[in-house]
Amino acid sequence: MKKFVERALKKFEKLDTEQVRMLIRDLANEQGLVAAVLDSLNDGLMVADSEHLLVLYNKACERLVPMSLREGTDQPVWQTIADDQIARFIERTLIGQESVADREFTFDRGSKTRTLAFTVTPLLRDGTITGSIVRIDDVSEKRSREARLRRAESLASLTTLAAGVAHEIKNPLGSIGIHMQLIQKTLAAIDDQRAGTIREYVDVVNEEVERLNRIVVDFLFAVRPMDTTLDDQELNPIVKELLDFVRFELEEAGISIVEDFADDLPELRLDEKYLKQAVLNIVKNAISAMPEGGVLTVTTRQSGDDVLLRISDTGEGMSEEVMEKIFDPYFTTRDFGSGIGLTLVYKIVKEHMGDISVVSQEGRGSAFTIMLPVPQREQHLLSWQGDGDEV
Ligand SMILES: Nc1ncnc2c1ncn2[C@@H]1O[C@H](COP(=O)(O)OP(=O)(O)O)[C@@H](O)[C@H]1O
Ligand SMILES: [Mg+2]
Repeated sequence: MKKFVERALKKFEKLDTEQVRMLIRDLANEQGLVAAVLDSLNDGLMVADSEHLLVLYNKACERLVPMSLREGTDQPVWQTIADDQIARFIERTLIGQESVADREFTFDRGSKTRTLAFTVTPLLRDGTITGSIVRIDDVSEKRSREARLRRAESLASLTTLAAGVAHEIKNPLGSIGIHMQLIQKTLAAIDDQRAGTIREYVDVVNEEVERLNRIVVDFLFAVRPMDTTLDDQELNPIVKELLDFVRFELEEAGISIVEDFADDLPELRLDEKYLKQAVLNIVKNAISAMPEGGVLTVTTRQSGDDVLLRISDTGEGMSEEVMEKIFDPYFTTRDFGSGIGLTLVYKIVKEHMGDISVVSQEGRGSAFTIMLPVPQREQHLLSWQGDGDEV
């Protein structure tokens, strides 16, 4: 194109009006294309001539940097930029004829913090410098992504550290526990009034040791990555076994069990050990919620592509505020609670690619529903057969 224009200019006198019109139209077309390309770029672009006057800029510039353009006047690039810090940087760089790569500026724009990277390079034309190009790249997303990653990494190493400490605490705790038992044994042999008092103190220490131990064990369980292995299994027998395990405890607490299992449930991808742990945690909470006894209802059903496992109690229920936080680590309303139980339940359900929901009414009871996906292959088969019919 350039060559064509040069050739045309050489014999400009010989061109007729129609040819001149065509030449101008082609030039206008080309300029339109260049402008469209520039305006489509995400990066901001400013071009200065050898006097540092702004000769060209694209739309992204106006979006990225606050600009103050005065119509019809030739302004040096830095005077078109409303931000002082950036303007001074541009002025220094252009006058000093420096090349700068990715100089970053952070500033608040509205409610967001933006980080812009400025790159200044000379504008070369036929081997000579005829101005400068300023490229502006919005790196805010990249920077905040990096910051997030750094935070996640430091959190991960903090967790590893905490898990290490928790693990180290377990051994001395075990030792304290054993020695407390020895003290209790020795005390039992002494028939003295004061021994009785000491026994009471020892009981208190024992309780506290047990509490610490539970916190440590729960914590370790919560922070360790789960080693779930999912196998094709039936849900009902697993739930039944778990209920058998707690049946005695429930009876003791005056709680009756209603088992409402659906027949013909499809096999699911389950980790028996972890699933039992999840159900146990929910049942334990139900027991605490029914200190005066009540009814525990356990239901399994197929619902579309999911199998539901619902565990409901007729206990004290919970308020909206409590319900919002129950899955948070360490949230508890119980004196001897760890607040880890439901956090683990949530983690286990997620490992099963499932979901969990809760409904509750204060004074009436709560229902926890675990939704577990039916493995895809059966659905594939069905939809494939369906497709076949349509053809
Ligand atoms: N079945 C339930 N009925 C009423 N409140 C419940 C029930 N299950 C859980 N909660 C509430 O959720 C909180 C957190 O439960 P969880 O994570 O198991 O910790 P913890 O049992 O140690 O308190 C409980 O302290 C309680 O307030
Ligand atoms: Mg609990």
